[in-house]
Amino acid sequence: MTKNYHGGNLKEGARLYGLREVELLDFSANINPLGPSPQVWTALQKALPRIIHYPDPEARELKEVLASYLGVPAGQVVLGNGGAELIYLLSRFFRPGRVVLTAPTFGEYGGGAPGVEILPLNLAPERDFRLTLEQFAGSLKPGDLVFVGNPNNPTGVLTPRETVLELAQLAAAAGSQLVVDEAFMDFVEESQSVVSLAGAHPNLIVVGSLTKIFALPGLRLGYLVAREELVSQLEDLLPPWRVNTLAQAAGLVSLRDQEHLRRSREVVKEEREYLIEQLKDLGFRPFPGRANFLLVSTHSVGVTGAKLQSFLGPRGVLIRLCHSFANLDDYYFRIAVRTREENEKLLGLLEEALAASSSPAQGRRDGK
Ligand SMILES: Cc1ncc(COP(=O)(O)O)c(C=O)c1O
Repeated sequence: MTKNYHGGNLKEGARLYGLREVELLDFSANINPLGPSPQVWTALQKALPRIIHYPDPEARELKEVLASYLGVPAGQVVLGNGGAELIYLLSRFFRPGRVVLTAPTFGEYGGGAPGVEILPLNLAPERDFRLTLEQFAGSLKPGDLVFVGNPNNPTGVLTPRETVLELAQLAAAAGSQLVVDEAFMDFVEESQSVVSLAGAHPNLIVVGSLTKIFALPGLRLGYLVAREELVSQLEDLLPPWRVNTLAQAAGLVSLRDQEHLRRSREVVKEEREYLIEQLKDLGFRPFPGRANFLLVSTHSVGVTGAKLQSFLGPRGVLIRLCHSFANLDDYYFRIAVRTREENEKLLGLLEEALAASSSPAQGRRDGK
């Protein structure tokens, strides 16, 4: 059993709703709706006979290609079995006095340091959950490990590069480390990435993922970028061969398929804007996310996320409830941005769910 609640658990969804996994439309995990680059399937087939050999222990070619994709020297890159492995590694390495994070944010920050004190800095819905430097300025102490998602999960809110760099300065002044998680930055049209600055900064580390835009969550592929001295200390704590043969092969072709990346960003932008408008029309409040997912408040329609989930689930559509995120209540849900046809299906069912929850017949059945 996983420690934290996450979306994307198709097995559990299928069991819960008595459906087969292939019958489910998964809006609960934030994966590129176009799927992987079409070249991935051929690359995997070609790589398959090689699984009887060990992979390149350091995945050198993949590291070189990723480094050039990111615009950093390969010596600043650590590859991991998913970004999550490296998030855990950082907490194990730094042994922080406290983990400082925004609330809400991704539930795995601070993983790897069981029992560590967590300082959540609450983001305000009235400000669309944007972070403010003032919140951090008065809060940081020496030895803190600070995690900031950019764009943040589950809000999708993007923090401007200048603000992130000011935050890194605040962290440096306070004697703490800032980790910026850019797992979803590839979806942003006008990137605010600070990855190219991490190698030169004493207090800035960037974590990234190749499972989101490249749609390879089952293969596990992530990275971090930091100054070279820290990179070699972190490499000393990691085993060789952790990036497997298939992940290396798929990662390589994915990083080289610029056209698929361009198209993915384009579709996500178009569909995200469409979903925002349509959700507003239904009476919901979607937050201004800039990635491939949206946080939606249901306060205005007075129906909990759980109620919507129990309507959608048996009809084969999975959404992510948000009760497990600190500072969010039962009146939120999160959805991935998917293709037009899939988004239409979701919107249609949400409309039906709202109608059912307000109809007198439904009210009577529910005893309300
Ligand atoms: C914000 C954020 N960071 C990192 C990760 C980890 O991604 P992975 O381990 O698949 O690379 C996730 C996964 O959901 C995430 O939402």
